Amino acid sequence: MKRFLGLADFSREQILDLLALAQALQDKPEPSALAGKILGLVFFNPSLRTLASFQAGMARLGGSSFVITPGQGTWQLETRQNAIMNGASAEHIREGIPVLASYCDALGVRAFAEGKNLAGDLGESLFRMIDTLCDKPLINMESAMNHPCQALADWRTLDELQIPQKAKFVLSWVYHPRALPLAVPAATVHMAAMRGMEVVVLRPEGFALPPQIMTAARQAAAAAGGSLTETSDRAAALAGASVLYAKEWGSTMYYGDTEADSRLRAELSDWCVRERWFAGALPDTKLMHCLPVRRNVAVADEVLDGPRAVVKREAFNRLAVQMAVLHRMLA
Ligand code: CP
Repeated sequence: MKRFLGLADFSREQILDLLALAQALQDKPEPSALAGKILGLVFFNPSLRTLASFQAGMARLGGSSFVITPGQGTWQLETRQNAIMNGASAEHIREGIPVLASYCDALGVRAFAEGKNLAGDLGESLFRMIDTLCDKPLINMESAMNHPCQALADWRTLDELQIPQKAKFVLSWVYHPRALPLAVPAATVHMAAMRGMEVVVLRPEGFALPPQIMTAARQAAAAAGGSLTETSDRAAALAGASVLYAKEWGSTMYYGDTEADSRLRAELSDWCVRERWFAGALPDTKLMHCLPVRRNVAVADEVLDGPRAVVKREAFNRLAVQMAVLHRMLA
């Protein structure tokens, strides 16, 4: 495997194969599998889980890693094409990425959406440039519109919980004081669709996922025997649901317009998951969230501290599935 950029690049069988490898490595650790191998990690944006789990996973397989946080102890890296570099950035990724790739055996990069132009972000222009600049295996650690490591970990979590393939999976928008990227909701809806689930996107008006994301997920759902619908009716969405996956994201109606987005979301602070949301769901409906989560803003304490929440298992599974990805790339 030379690239791990999105689950859509793989067949369902290949995903199941990676998940089986994650289980095999958990059952029978291979502490020397990646001896002598080096993973480079470039974080243009903050992280807790991705940073720690990739370093831990590489170490558990016998390899090592280095971390670059551009502008924090290293040169600020320019990412714009044809930029006149008379500002803060001392180096362009056109040099920076190939140089870093030359020091390691695989490179992971986190580079969020700019959040100004929806078409540009949907086109993944920055990550596509990084892809062309990196001559080593490349891992997407969250790009403008994808977070495949999170999606793979969430698939594993659903399997561990024995959530049936055809179960109802509700991806719900939840409140956050500002617009967050579409990467996790886009990756999540595609993952659940590929798994063959009855997927419902629950969101207020103005926050519909872009048609490109919904169309691709609908095709994946059809291929796997599942379905995909969307609604703003919370009770209807949650009726009979096995999973509520909570996620914050920015308005797509006012993408890039911070003031209009703020006005729209100002009335939506009640979109904080509370126990009463689950009244029509199944008795043991699970609450998923990729973390970090703002308590009592996006999800209430009563849910996060209760038996429904599986958020810490999702986070642990980041380590398990990323070890499988690293093993497949480098062993
Ligand atoms: N879920 C996730 O990617 O967490 P971090 O942003 O902390 O890496």
